[in-house]
Amino acid sequence: MEKQRESNDEGENSIVWNEKERKFETRDREAYIEYQLRGGGGGKVLDLLHTYVPPSKRGLGLAAHLCVAAFSHAEAQSLSVVPTCSYVSDTFLPRNPSWNSMVYKEDVKSSM
Ligand code: COA
Repeated sequence: MEKQRESNDEGENSIVWNEKERKFETRDREAYIEYQLRGGGGGKVLDLLHTYVPPSKRGLGLAAHLCVAAFSHAEAQSLSVVPTCSYVSDTFLPRNPSWNSMVYKEDVKSSM
């Protein structure tokens, strides 16, 4: 199954990695997904904490773009993903099940 990729580096909705603030965000910084990098039992995990899109831009798939950027980053860095944010767990993953294989399976919170 082919995964959706973020390939547009120039468009208004292109996603930038803000390592210092632990976010993936749009160039205007209005929409973002915040994460925490944590050490898990078998390796590091990318915990996706919170997704935010301003009201005027909702319903256009921007949050899904942010998730794809975060999951692609995790895949490139060999990280598992913890979908703490309800948008990621309840909307993005059910609609994009090819990314489910990257979800951390153990109870991360109790092992940290
Ligand atoms: N949890 C799970 N899913 C949610 C949601 C939430 N809190 N809020 C909205 N959704 C779903 C909607 O059901 C919508 O479905 P639809 O397409 O059938 O209408 C879908 O997200 C829209 O997807 P998408 O267009 O990719 O998302 P978006 O760019 O509109 O952004 C949020 C979605 C949740 C990031 C945005 O509504 C937001 O910033 N809300 C306030 C903050 C928030 O609740 N964040 C999520 C919890 S951390």
